[in-house]
Amino acid sequence: MNAYRLSIKGEIPLHGETYVSGGKNTSLAVLPAVILCDEPCVIENLPDIDDINVLYTILCHLGAKVDYQRDKKRMIIDPTSVNCTTVPFSFTQQMRASYYLMGALFGRYGEASVGYPGGCAIGSRPIDQHIKGFCLLGAEFLEEGGMLKLKGERRGSIINFDMATVGGTINVMLAACKAKGNTVLANAAREPHVVDLANFLNSMGAKIRGAGTSTIRIRGVQKLSGAAYSVIPDQIETGTLMIAAAATRGDVLIRGCIPTHMEALTAKLLEMGVFVDSFDDCIRVRLNKGHRAIRISTQEYPGFPTDLQQPMSALLTKANGNSEVTENIFDNRFKHLDEMRRMGAKVHISGRTAYIEGVPELRGAPVNACDLRGGAALVIAGLMAKGITQVYNPDYIHRGYERLEEKLSSLGADIRLEKTE
Ligand code: EPU
Repeated sequence: MNAYRLSIKGEIPLHGETYVSGGKNTSLAVLPAVILCDEPCVIENLPDIDDINVLYTILCHLGAKVDYQRDKKRMIIDPTSVNCTTVPFSFTQQMRASYYLMGALFGRYGEASVGYPGGCAIGSRPIDQHIKGFCLLGAEFLEEGGMLKLKGERRGSIINFDMATVGGTINVMLAACKAKGNTVLANAAREPHVVDLANFLNSMGAKIRGAGTSTIRIRGVQKLSGAAYSVIPDQIETGTLMIAAAATRGDVLIRGCIPTHMEALTAKLLEMGVFVDSFDDCIRVRLNKGHRAIRISTQEYPGFPTDLQQPMSALLTKANGNSEVTENIFDNRFKHLDEMRRMGAKVHISGRTAYIEGVPELRGAPVNACDLRGGAALVIAGLMAKGITQVYNPDYIHRGYERLEEKLSSLGADIRLEKTE
């Protein structure tokens, strides 16, 4: 088997225009949602990433007829031929979002047997809130032979999440769409992809109100009709590109994004002295001098997203002064900073906070991507560093970013995917 690495020659300012692909986490919720539908659906603007390939394989395994037109970023899915409600661990271990098959299959068929979800190792990631929601909707839950099993009638209920969980909100929303009666999700997550999923479900005839607020109300319906839907642009890819532009002191126009989803990051970049101009569907990021150190504390939307903490903390290693980054959502999301010490970053990690002393220069070094956003953070570190940085395990990055290296190259970066010797 060939192993690859990304080789980056740093200190080149990024210049020009790029575009944002369809949202990863949105697509990973919208595709399983098609299982709930009683007719074929067309899903557009899908990102060409490894996680979507896994989901495509799972949908085919379940018996759905799927025409994946990768060049058109589109899947035409006929879920009426689904003839199986079991998703083995060999599939589910490949990604986190496989847990949405539980909500979709249980919501449609009243039963599901799904292997434990995989995904990035960024801390303990329990799914007790998902299970609590399914059980309140009427499921009997059983763990057997490493499989998560649900069976039962679906009846509307009131579910109060103990924390605003994105996955839990989406999963229980899927399960409740066709339940008998009304469901209320209290303390729901408000992320843009929760709203996008609700919009897709409503476009099929679901009755969901309040997505984007902390209380979501769902009136169960019997039938969902086929729909054509285009997923929203990726919030985290947009942010990663914004940070890359700032990190290289470049001037980049990012097209096809939703600037209102980026307000928390934009505010922090402005605080650092970066110029950010937001237009209807594009953002320009510019910087021509050093940037200031800041404090960041990750929060649920609309707070600063945990998924941008890693790229942002990479940027802060070269800020003027001392920065503090507190990660409130996941308990192990600083591994990229350990790697960056080899590049000359000065970081002290204590509990959930990273104390970063800005240095004038990073030096290229071989580093290991340990997870998706951490991998992107190391690419940003490589773009900032003097000399050559080699990022090993780029597969993590390709799970969630569509052609990141090509997009950066088109902006002038010297970045190549090469075989390791
Ligand atoms: N939590 C529980 N119990 C639960 C569910 C969550 O204790 O039943 C805890 C988690 O351990 C975590 C917090 O609640 O401490 C928030 O977890 P959440 O459920 O919101 O996260 P997730 O569904 O596992 C999704 C994204 C992540 C993103 C988070 C937060 C997908 C497939 N994953 O994860 O995306 O970081 O929401 O916004 O949508 C990524 O794209 O790199 C990524 C990790």
